[in-house]
Amino acid sequence: MRTAHPRKLFVTTALPYANGAFHIGHIMEYIQADIWVRFQRMQGNEVHFVGADDAHGAPIMIAAEKAGVTPQEFVANIAAGRKQYLDGFHIAFDNWHSTDGPENHELSRDIYRRLRDAGLITTKTIEQFYDPVKNMFLPDRYIKGECPKCGTKDQYGDACENCSAVYAPTDLKNPYSTLTGATPVMKSSEHFFFKLSDPKCTEFLRAWALDPHRLQPEVANKAREWLDGEEGLGDWDISRDAPYFGIEIPDAPGKYFYVWLDAPIGYLASLKNYFDKTGRDFSAFLADPSSEQYHFIGKDITYFHTLFWPAVLQFSGLKTPNNVFVHGFITVSGEKMSKSRGTGISPLRYLDIGMNPEWLRYYIAAKLNAKVEDVDFNPDDFVLRVNSDLIGKYVNIASRAAGFITKRFGGQLSDAVSGDAAMSWKLRFAEQEAAIRDAYEAREYGKAIRQIMALADEVNQYVDTKKPWELAKNPANDQELQDVCSNLLRSFYCLTIFLAPILPALARKVSTLFRMERDLTWADLQSSPTAIGTFEHLMQRVDPKMLDALFEAPAAAVTHPHPGLPLEGEGEDGGAIEALAPEIKIDDFTKIDLRIAKIVHCEHVEGSDKLLRLTLDVGEGRTRNVFSGIKSAYQPEELVGKLTVLVANLAPRKMKFGVSEGMVLAASAADEKTNPGIYILNPWPGAEPGMRIR
Ligand code: 2FM
Ligand code: ZN
Repeated sequence: MRTAHPRKLFVTTALPYANGAFHIGHIMEYIQADIWVRFQRMQGNEVHFVGADDAHGAPIMIAAEKAGVTPQEFVANIAAGRKQYLDGFHIAFDNWHSTDGPENHELSRDIYRRLRDAGLITTKTIEQFYDPVKNMFLPDRYIKGECPKCGTKDQYGDACENCSAVYAPTDLKNPYSTLTGATPVMKSSEHFFFKLSDPKCTEFLRAWALDPHRLQPEVANKAREWLDGEEGLGDWDISRDAPYFGIEIPDAPGKYFYVWLDAPIGYLASLKNYFDKTGRDFSAFLADPSSEQYHFIGKDITYFHTLFWPAVLQFSGLKTPNNVFVHGFITVSGEKMSKSRGTGISPLRYLDIGMNPEWLRYYIAAKLNAKVEDVDFNPDDFVLRVNSDLIGKYVNIASRAAGFITKRFGGQLSDAVSGDAAMSWKLRFAEQEAAIRDAYEAREYGKAIRQIMALADEVNQYVDTKKPWELAKNPANDQELQDVCSNLLRSFYCLTIFLAPILPALARKVSTLFRMERDLTWADLQSSPTAIGTFEHLMQRVDPKMLDALFEAPAAAVTHPHPGLPLEGEGEDGGAIEALAPEIKIDDFTKIDLRIAKIVHCEHVEGSDKLLRLTLDVGEGRTRNVFSGIKSAYQPEELVGKLTVLVANLAPRKMKFGVSEGMVLAASAADEKTNPGIYILNPWPGAEPGMRIR
């Protein structure tokens, strides 16, 4: 679709729960949306692309409590870890916010009032399991018991893992709360419901969801099943009782919105936060009938986005989504991933071992289409597609031509496209442009890549026919050499524009090569570069060993990005390291005063075969005497002048050889046979004696 006026698009991805690091499934969704957003911007459209943390709900409240922090602190800690992933994979959200921000509190309460005024809120008293020790209603996931059918112990309240029986939590025998172990009791309370069963809701949703120009066919079929099911749409329970981390319901003290009510409103809240910060008019954008709203989501949350969310918007008088784009899950070599733990691929590890984020963007794009199909990450296929297609067919075009143009022709391209072959693929590019554009628009990225690579194949055939390296041998062929290489570089320029939504960093390098120094647009296809600057290497091939490293178990001694929270990819049974000490609260940790100490003197201790005597400067205007059992590992002269770490507030200890005023820290293996070494700590350069370690 090409319109005379730029389109105004509001685009979101699903808001991730703020209780863990991103896994590869999140990154895949963000890459899918980011490619679409970049493509739309290249068309000259105005796009606002926002995300946020989904902060509320019982699991986050409970996780925060376990970590000994407030839910707000917990969520802020998770949010602080987001940027490295987004920047790392070139995912360019305009804004990242939180559903606990003030905008969301206000918008959610406002939307609720409008739904209430429209007569679509009702209350009912319901009975639920209640934990009498923790004094809270128990979400189903915190209730276990024996299967009512086969008696298997420790089964969740929905289905039995042993006999696959399906039942309600109240059917469990000997149920218990997984939070306290207590036997839950039945307790009733008043809940608020959104009347989805109201005929005007169903009628609206039928029109919205079954509009043939809207949802993907398989999504529309699902929606039809839900709408036409025997029971029709049930009313939706949107309230939870305190204690709950969420937004309090107006005029209902102690009642909170269920997280799924305020989560999608978080899309609007993030947009509002962004508009307010950048001096744009949020209400005007929403009121503008020409603005468009799109949500990229995973298939597991289709119900919320194709039924609840459009109805909430419609009956609170707001703009309804133009569309919801549903994708499948990512599997790794055919294996499904767990929603909380992700797959074997850690996005941070991918970046840490130096893998290029654009390889992943290219690979995922090559496998994506507009269907709700799962995408499989297969390591061998990954290496093949990146090395043979991306580098072999596309990147190499530039490497083959740029050297001659720089060294032999002062960087100048010859004027006209010359020769029959070149003319014909100039036409082919023009011919294919619309098809490639349509494929991107329809999120058929795999198709777009196949079309682009087919053009690259034609260019490579031209290289093989013309053999520039042969032409270069005889100066009489100079004009032809310059023409051939100019044709190659111009075709490379066009291919780069076609690939730019997928490979933004590479496209930027290519723009620099052509002395443009800016992001390329689709309109740049109309212009033809005349010169190049210095050729910088554009992209490395994948070393297959990197894939081995990507799937190896992480090293035991990893630094923890978010203290108190589970590490991404951390196994339950941790491998061969010493068992962790019981959990502590941050207050316990801060009781220990760790300081940087300089070893100003060190000597053997007569009569001791274990100890060294250290004289330490901890910046106190005096030195300390500390004995340390590191004689087997260090010679005194190796240590003098070095910095290390001292437990500075340990009570002084009287020993046979004198008083020890503190303890230096050292690492050692649990089992001396695996590694008998002792390793003292050495801070990074720049640390100074007396600095506190926190
Ligand atoms: O399933 C999830 O991970 C939810 N946090 C998605 C919320 S999407 C939107 F509604 F906020
Ligand atoms: Zn069973």
